[in-house]
Amino acid sequence: MKDVYILAIETSCDETSMAIVKNGQSIDSLTILTQMDTHANFGGVVPEIASRMHTENITMVLEETLKKSHITMDEISAIAVTYAPGLLGSLLVGVECAKVLAYVYNKPLIKVNHTLGHIYANNIENDIVFPTLALIVSGGHTDLVILKNDNEMEVLGSTIDDSIGEVYDKVARVLGMPYPGGPNIEKKALLGKSTYEMPVLMNDDSYNFSYSGLKSYIINLVHNEKQRNHEIRINDLACSFQRSAVEELSRKVDLALKNNPNIKRMILAGGVSANTYLREEIKKVCDKYQVKFHVPNIIYCTDNAAMIGAAAYPLYKAHIFADYSLNAKSSETIKKYLENN
Ligand code: KG4
Ligand code: ZN
Repeated sequence: MKDVYILAIETSCDETSMAIVKNGQSIDSLTILTQMDTHANFGGVVPEIASRMHTENITMVLEETLKKSHITMDEISAIAVTYAPGLLGSLLVGVECAKVLAYVYNKPLIKVNHTLGHIYANNIENDIVFPTLALIVSGGHTDLVILKNDNEMEVLGSTIDDSIGEVYDKVARVLGMPYPGGPNIEKKALLGKSTYEMPVLMNDDSYNFSYSGLKSYIINLVHNEKQRNHEIRINDLACSFQRSAVEELSRKVDLALKNNPNIKRMILAGGVSANTYLREEIKKVCDKYQVKFHVPNIIYCTDNAAMIGAAAYPLYKAHIFADYSLNAKSSETIKKYLENN
């Protein structure tokens, strides 16, 4: 078969990214323009500013991506774009850009769910071998999924309230660290000890997660300590929080591997999977069940268009194309996506 080059676009949050991906696995060109420094001034992503910056930057990102690539627009096989979930105004910039490119250059259009993109980041530089257990941990999602093949997935459980990334960011903010909080909590935790007692999280036999209790507990603890003029040992609190949050993930992964002995592979996906402590703890569970563990290269863990190109490839092969009525959607869980597609 002729090589397939997919031009992929990702604008769901605060990264304007484009990539040209060959046969779903090899990155011909990748550009990621982050707005992180701008949003850090506000302590989090400001949706209105994010969409305006995507609009300002998207043409430059396209130009740069094509310049770095060794192929031209004419040789592109299809245009892929993240259409959901994310910030509506941000998604719309990517979707409109993709539609214009598909129309002008007469290319098929492929719509990609962002969470599916995070999963397929594992297919870059490595093959996803089915069946695989996937733990998706990002700013918007905490999902435990069994991947059966490219088209079939079973969602075992999800968060019933906050996502783990959201809680990392919130705890970091309460402790006075800049946005995005996750990497900062990780750094502080390395310097501390797990000396603060944390509440028991969702201590049940489901595969669901709940993080709002842990979040409220830490917000209250910091508030009360401040009122009493007590010192907050930030490194120790970051370490205690991280241990508790990750322990919950490990416990549910352990349960899933114990109950599904046919699964011999496991992957991590999403921004929080850049966290070294999380990687080490999940690897320990995998080792216990002799399960092969794989994580994407750090650059493909947080938002990027290469993962969107990787996820679009099986859709291209199956001739699953979108038409020009494609619209952005702010929310779409992986479960909803699987039901609707
Ligand atoms: O996947 P992602 O880039 O965007 C979403 O789809 O949400 O994930 C962003 C999340 C943020 O909450 C960020 O704090 C978190 O990933 N994150 C981390 C680390 N790097 C990014 N959390 C913990 N440790 C990290 N090293
Ligand atoms: Zn993401």
